[in-house]
Amino acid sequence: MPTRPRLRPVIRAFGPGRVNLIGEHTDYNGGLALPFAIDRGVTVEAEPLDGGEIRAEALDLRETDAFAADDPGRAGGWRAFVRGTVAELRTAGVQIQGARLVFTGDVPQGSGLSSSAALEAALCLALIAVAGADEPDRTELAKLCSRVENDWVGAETGLLDQLAALRCEPGAALRIDFATLALRPVPLTLGDWRLVTLESGAQHEHAESGYNERRSECRAACEALGVAQLADADPEAAERLPEPLRRRARHVLSENERVDAMVAALETGDLEQAGRLLDASHASLRDDYDASVAAVEETVAALRHAGAAGARMVGGGFGGSVLALMLPGAEPPEGSVEVAPGAAARLLSSEAVPTRIRRR
Ligand code: GLA
Repeated sequence: MPTRPRLRPVIRAFGPGRVNLIGEHTDYNGGLALPFAIDRGVTVEAEPLDGGEIRAEALDLRETDAFAADDPGRAGGWRAFVRGTVAELRTAGVQIQGARLVFTGDVPQGSGLSSSAALEAALCLALIAVAGADEPDRTELAKLCSRVENDWVGAETGLLDQLAALRCEPGAALRIDFATLALRPVPLTLGDWRLVTLESGAQHEHAESGYNERRSECRAACEALGVAQLADADPEAAERLPEPLRRRARHVLSENERVDAMVAALETGDLEQAGRLLDASHASLRDDYDASVAAVEETVAALRHAGAAGARMVGGGFGGSVLALMLPGAEPPEGSVEVAPGAAARLLSSEAVPTRIRRR
């Protein structure tokens, strides 16, 4: 098949989705989380163009967008992520040139595995490389991506997904302390045990779900307790809050303790305890944070029935995927996908590019 000669270099970058092992709804409360990057994610192909236009194509959605690199303007859906990333990189001083961008991905949207942070991270690396600029500090880049979510997409998310996509290490989960942004890789050694995710079938949509409501409840709890972030709250004082603030605070405080209990369980190889902690996290998210839905409960039950040592919803809640730790030899339900800790966002060599992109 004849191919168009390529006179200009094509940059390819990959951003991973993530699974949060434990520590849910703690990032925007100054707490702890323990995510890992997965090998599924979003790939961006970026080809420099003459002139200052960005032409973007979401291959899987069969949708396109075109806008001026120096004045992206507003749009909805996936286009908001692209335009916002371009705008925020420009503000950060990156010289954005005209480019053709092609996106492909294999993280289902709305699954709670953070396809959006995968896209932002991959796009940042690609555009920075096209500009010939040095890669900035990755924690700063994560904050930039988070501004895209907050200011361009209108999702009031925290920093969990972006830090996971940009800072995780292969073979390890990443303990993040959101009060200080201190990061510590924690080796995730499972032996014959397996971690799997299974989609509940109920799509979650941050901007339209209870996520923002939970955030404002946490803010209200902070105001009532006179603390800047819930992770700093005194547990006894938190128990005296009116409902539902009492339960929201209880989830955040108990979830923080579970993160360090999980770190200890992994460091001592106590996977039974890791399973119990997943169950406890799920119960807290369901009963105290009210973030579960019927389809998620059914999915958790199916995974337990199949031999999970523990299972919990992952991500923002109100739908999305369930994570389970399967006992050795247990067969997870149909549709489950094994997940293992992979590398953070990176530029790809052409050999590593999925063929469906290379063939275009
Ligand atoms: C979503 C958000 C994250 C985090 C989680 C809940 O994934 O994007 O910032 O708040 O929900 O832990």
